[in-house]
Amino acid sequence: QETLGFAAKLRGKKIIITGGGTREPLDPVRVLTNNSSGQMGLALQDAAEKAGADVVYIDAAALDVQGLKEKIAAAFADADALIMAAAVSDYRAVQVSRNKIKSAPKKLTIELAKTEDLLKYFAGQKKKQYLVGFALESEDLLKNAEQKLREKKLDLIAANDISALSSAEATVILLDKSGVAETLERLPKTQIAARIIERVAAAVQA
Ligand code: CTP
Ligand code: CA
Repeated sequence: QETLGFAAKLRGKKIIITGGGTREPLDPVRVLTNNSSGQMGLALQDAAEKAGADVVYIDAAALDVQGLKEKIAAAFADADALIMAAAVSDYRAVQVSRNKIKSAPKKLTIELAKTEDLLKYFAGQKKKQYLVGFALESEDLLKNAEQKLREKKLDLIAANDISALSSAEATVILLDKSGVAETLERLPKTQIAARIIERVAAAVQA
């Protein structure tokens, strides 16, 4: 009965979930990326589907930041929530080389420019959408996560220590706009995802 109750919670709701790490091209064969395993995004997709949601899952690993933005934008207008588990590249090459960069020089400098902050962009587009961000920190976890929650105008942020990066387990603090913090201590990412989806369901029902 408990699972049936949970199963109905997101019926009729459209949830966009991004996962994995973006890839910014440097030249036709090389990319700038990160160590995101994509596990959290997939766990969220699974939990949201089990809750009956209409899930739009976007795998960032196939995309650069602008490509990811376009995919989200195509689904955003009638979505009820956006969950940004994707590890979005903070920088991109100023000039993507048309030809393969030759390995001849002893030193190579590649100029990078800041990418657009997608959560900030979609916070600006938002009507009813519940916005969930992640924060990956190696220090001052709570302080940095609170700042991201505020600056990106999020409804909820899941703060992760970097030990979570390539592990199936994580300790996550869920911080919401009202300042309430919920700690999920050393749990499998599947259970963390299920809890995040419960929080989203409670919010989009309200
Ligand atoms: N994010 C985003 N657009 C970016 C960078 C990040 O939407 N260009 C999102 C991520 O998907 C994540 C949240 O913002 O949900 C926080 O990402 P994180 O890398 O922890 O924060 P940054 O704001 O990029 O700050 P920094 O990397 O300097 O800690
Ligand atoms: Ca970042």
